Amino acid sequence: MIELLISRRSIRDYTEQPIEKEKIDILKQAALLSPTGKNKREWEYIFVDERETLAKLATVKPHGIKMLEKAALGIVVCADDEISDIWIEDASIAMATLHYTAHALGLGSCWIQIRNRMFHHEEGISSEKKMQEMLNIPEKTRVLAILSVGYPADERAPNQLDKLDYSKIHTNKY
Ligand SMILES: Cc1cc2nc3c(=O)[nH]c(=O)nc-3n(C[C@H](O)[C@H](O)[C@H](O)COP(=O)(O)O)c2cc1C
Repeated sequence: MIELLISRRSIRDYTEQPIEKEKIDILKQAALLSPTGKNKREWEYIFVDERETLAKLATVKPHGIKMLEKAALGIVVCADDEISDIWIEDASIAMATLHYTAHALGLGSCWIQIRNRMFHHEEGISSEKKMQEMLNIPEKTRVLAILSVGYPADERAPNQLDKLDYSKIHTNKY
């Protein structure tokens, strides 16, 4: 686990190599193994592997999403806000679980934020609303983020333990 924490980076460029079914199955298991408050399991996942759909999804916000066009897979992480008032936390843990699992499988991935992002500012259309329309997601099923996944086309330097900012850690009091 510590090795994974150190070497994990956001990967935004992918090769054309498809992801093996066995690895996709493990990602599905990871999604469903992610913990939730009161064990409500209110998340819903959409595994998108159609190139055309990935390209369409890459338009739901202006920045920080173009890598979906090259990704072999996009995992949309949603959650039903009528089932749990802490759906954001639960969906975020699922995103992190998927991001680390992808890395453990030798895949690169990147969190693409959707919640609180806009498709069209002037017209007041959110990225979330646009995605709900595109993927037939019900209104109560909120979209947190998409994880773009693929075989890494670039190698990123691992994190360095000697660069950690220990001033962020407080003991007993702030
Ligand atoms: C909550 C969250 C939202 C993020 N949203 C985006 C995003 O929309 N687009 C993007 O390219 N990267 C996004 N990232 C990736 C961060 O930019 C990245 O984790 C950060 O710069 C640190 O780099 P590293 O992951 O390589 O260590 C997001 C990360 C988190 C945790």
